[in-house]
Amino acid sequence: MALREIRTQGDPVLSKECKPVKEMTPRVEQLIDDMFETMYENEGAGLAAPQVGILKQIVVIDVGDGNQYVLINPRIVEQSGEETDFEGCLSVPGLRGKVTRAEKVTVEALNEDFEQIAIAAEGLLARCIQHEVDHLHGKLYTELVEGDLMSIEQMLEEESEEAED
Ligand code: NI
Repeated sequence: MALREIRTQGDPVLSKECKPVKEMTPRVEQLIDDMFETMYENEGAGLAAPQVGILKQIVVIDVGDGNQYVLINPRIVEQSGEETDFEGCLSVPGLRGKVTRAEKVTVEALNEDFEQIAIAAEGLLARCIQHEVDHLHGKLYTELVEGDLMSIEQMLEEESEEAED
């Protein structure tokens, strides 16, 4: 396994459309391993291949629910509800912003064994899936932010103010 360099906002690779993966190869397996290692090293909950400069439809996710999700060629096939919450991105370091997304989604994808899977998700996992799938289509959460991007300190301040209301 190896750490990969995370591309940050402004890098043209982050605004490109990613290609579907046609078959599992040792290179793809290596990429997935490296993406997990890079995500954990940077304390992220999800990472998409373009964030390490690879224009393939591959996402890895670990939101702390005991699962390591690998989503290859993912498609969101159902969504419902609406939820607004803070989001961040390893490609936009140090910042957070409020984004409204579907509260529940169903995603179809291939897993690391190239088997078709469907995941019905809600809450943080649903948010993370939507954020990462957007990466595969060249979209950063900063395009969706309501209000200002803010530092983590500002976000915590705003959250504690909300808690007092
Ligand atoms: Ni991101």
